[in-house]
Amino acid sequence: MADNQATLTVDGKDYQLPIIEGTLGPSVIEVAAFQKAGYWTYDPGFMATAPVESKITFIDGGKGELLHRGYPIDQLANNAEYLEVAYALIHGDLPNSEQKADFFKKIREHTGVHDQLRKFFEGFRRDAHPMAIMVGVVGALSAFYHEHLDVSNEEHREITAIRLIAKMPTLAAMSYKYSRGEPFMYPRNDFNYAENFLYMMFATPGDVDYKPNDVITRAMDKIFTLHADHEQNASTSTVRLAGSTGANPYACIAAGIAALWGPSHGGANEAVLEMLDEIGSVENVPEFMEKVKSREVKLMGFGHRVYKNFDPRAQVMKETCDEVLGALGINDPKLELAMALEKIALEDPFFVERNLYPNVDFYSGIILKAIGIPTSMFTVIFSLARTSGWISHWLEMHSAPFKIGRPRQLYTGETRRDFVKVEDRKQK
Ligand code: SDX
Repeated sequence: MADNQATLTVDGKDYQLPIIEGTLGPSVIEVAAFQKAGYWTYDPGFMATAPVESKITFIDGGKGELLHRGYPIDQLANNAEYLEVAYALIHGDLPNSEQKADFFKKIREHTGVHDQLRKFFEGFRRDAHPMAIMVGVVGALSAFYHEHLDVSNEEHREITAIRLIAKMPTLAAMSYKYSRGEPFMYPRNDFNYAENFLYMMFATPGDVDYKPNDVITRAMDKIFTLHADHEQNASTSTVRLAGSTGANPYACIAAGIAALWGPSHGGANEAVLEMLDEIGSVENVPEFMEKVKSREVKLMGFGHRVYKNFDPRAQVMKETCDEVLGALGINDPKLELAMALEKIALEDPFFVERNLYPNVDFYSGIILKAIGIPTSMFTVIFSLARTSGWISHWLEMHSAPFKIGRPRQLYTGETRRDFVKVEDRKQK
């Protein structure tokens, strides 16, 4: 309930707006009364708008703090398995040993996909971007599970969440294999989640003894955790808006994948590697930075709508980067170049004045490249990991009554005018 009120005075009339406090972060002002006053709020880009209440993730952008169900992201990334974090996002707490065993078993039992789905891949050119494939194939999954598409049925919602988290690695690996003209690898359920993904990505039918390097497996699982959820970001908000129409969860997740693809969002990890390739060497950094300051280009992997301090995920990602490159004995000049960019950016007034720090995407690509994953697969991996966050928000929305999301607008177009025949129209 509202603890106190704000007063809006407009056209000489006062309107009381309830102020509602959360457990952490800014309180919100409920603005429904604006409608009574004949006004709408105006907030392009949702700079100061909370369209939902949620208990899943909290971000303090000023402190650079990220909590999933209250647990700090660095503690989760360094101590939990990704599937434990996925469980917590969905159910509200980390699983006990019995819950963990049951959830992991359920995921293992649903990693396979209907064999007909292979035919969806054959419709794409081999050089199709894997994100184009994922948008299509994930949305198409709803055609294979007619018996569990009643979004008002809690059991249907739960089995769908399991299916999506379980099948995303399989579909992601299939999109990679398809691009290489290699045979799809069936999931191996004796492997853990990250091992199975790496197996389906890199093993071939003859690799009967394939087992990924433990350091790489741990790094992959940590990367999944670092991308699992992030409050009401653009793709999660897309999933919620699609879900508010009653659309089936596969369609909602496909909408989230489409939104994530943009270079300002999840597509940034791919753009970081392209940027590092374009810069080439540390000698070219000063010239590149001038292009950034003149706004010709953005420093990809830097900046964030919420973090005005270090993105805590970037710090864990950098530690993981050092671990993986060290374990693999890789001396990647791109890491040296990225560190030079970061050092300069953190000292340069242009970036300091705008609170621009490395975000989750700045170092992730260097690790993924070291693991042998092509740049085009980076955002696919982001979408794989974010599926647990997206579906936890979708489930949270369905756990209580909700209304269809229907924003309004500030209209600045033509006033009413009558139809004009083509022969009477002005010729420009
Ligand atoms: C993700 O929302 C989430 O939580 C997203 C995410 C998640 O987990 O879901 O964290 C994942 O999307 C991380 C962000 C990945 N994107 C990039 O790395 C692309 C590069 N970053 C920018 O495009 C930008 O920083 C955004 C999109 C991330 C944030 O943009 P905002 O909040 O709208 O900020 P802005 O564009 O208003 O920038 C404020 C100022 C501007 O300067 P002025 O024109 O006002 O002088 O900072 C500048 C911008 O030009 N700026 C940058 C910059 N980012 C912002 N200048 C150069 N390089 C950049 N990267």
